Amino acid sequence: MKITSMAAFNGRDIPERDRNFTAVGNAKAAIAKKGKEAVVNATVGALYDDDANLVVLDSVARTFRELSGTDFAEYAPIAGTPGFREAVRKAAFGSYEPKSYVGIVATPGGTGSISNAVDNYSCPGDRILTHNWYWGPYGNIASEQGKSLETFEMFDEEGRFNIADFEYKVSKLLRNQEHLVIILNTPASNPTGYSLSMDDWYGVKRVLDGVDLEKKVTLIIDAAYIDFAGEMDEVRAFLPVIDNLRGNILPVIAYSASKTFTMYGARCAAMLCLAHTPEVAAEFEKVCSFFARTAWSNSPRAPQTVIEKIYSDPELLKETDDERRHWRDMLLARGHAFENAAAECGLEIVPFRAGFFVTIPYKDPDALINALGKKDIFLIPVNGGVRVSVAAVAEDKCRMLPAVIKETIAELG
Ligand SMILES: Cc1ncc(COP(=O)(O)O)c(C=O)c1O
Repeated sequence: MKITSMAAFNGRDIPERDRNFTAVGNAKAAIAKKGKEAVVNATVGALYDDDANLVVLDSVARTFRELSGTDFAEYAPIAGTPGFREAVRKAAFGSYEPKSYVGIVATPGGTGSISNAVDNYSCPGDRILTHNWYWGPYGNIASEQGKSLETFEMFDEEGRFNIADFEYKVSKLLRNQEHLVIILNTPASNPTGYSLSMDDWYGVKRVLDGVDLEKKVTLIIDAAYIDFAGEMDEVRAFLPVIDNLRGNILPVIAYSASKTFTMYGARCAAMLCLAHTPEVAAEFEKVCSFFARTAWSNSPRAPQTVIEKIYSDPELLKETDDERRHWRDMLLARGHAFENAAAECGLEIVPFRAGFFVTIPYKDPDALINALGKKDIFLIPVNGGVRVSVAAVAEDKCRMLPAVIKETIAELG
């Protein structure tokens, strides 16, 4: 007998090939054949300049190059180096000083923060709640841990954040679960580019204030795109709301250095909780360090040291902030160019505010991706639509794309 499988699948549905990689591969093949200029590659989830080169902040690259051998060779403490922990607190909260007790654990990327929080704050068999437009790995993280995803409709018929469905799903799940982990990807969600408004946040707070005090809710705010979503203080305006929830609700911010410091491959992030008591904050650091020890042990030291150096040198910090602002404004201009052009030609988009991506709702995403591929336009299929990475293409292409997408949808009938 020929053995063709050895893995224990444990109920996980693992596809042969990731749809994203297929789309990325097709775009690369088209570029190899026809050249960069002839192709729109809006598949990539990283920021590229107008000449299709990856943006790397100079101040960050320089600080990396100046590291000593020990700065990257030595193990970092599991929860992060003391200097990184101090720096990442400032980076995540900006000028806001939390009233709650803050617990911090370093992780290799925001992905690590999310899987760690899901592991520690939900039980096997639980359902994890997120919005119906979501980043695919949430589902993988849940299934990898013997859990599953439940979604609420992110928008109502008027295109407003759907608090009613959020409330319904929270109460439905808490009828059967003692713990509930909720993931909200804001500001500038992947794939929609939506950011919760202050009114949306007051709605979230009203729902969470109504949760039975016996139940334990962990609210993960996946803030991967926060520093490209708008002015630093404005995009952090929600912090006082999550800093003022009841004791049975634990907000956890998944704060990633991937985009903020253009360090995607360096794998650096932190999870930061806002706890009502010092005991809950200490327990957070204990349980999250324990999971880290078993999953990846310590996180890379080099990027932690870079961030520590940036935050301990006001001039360097200013340089980094100024550089990021320049690229952020370029990104915001691209997003708005796409949004305006879509409005002009009547192409429907999912409510968008800022960030790396815009999504077009469409019933058969693969058909649309294929048809656009024939026109050398490469996008990513998501459930219920197609995602355009405005982070990856120049503003003139962002302005031109909506009409072509609209025309292609019409051709598909
Ligand atoms: C919504 C969202 N959350 C989290 C991440 C985490 O990225 P990383 O693990 O590189 O920090 C990403 C990256 O693409 C993302 O799109």
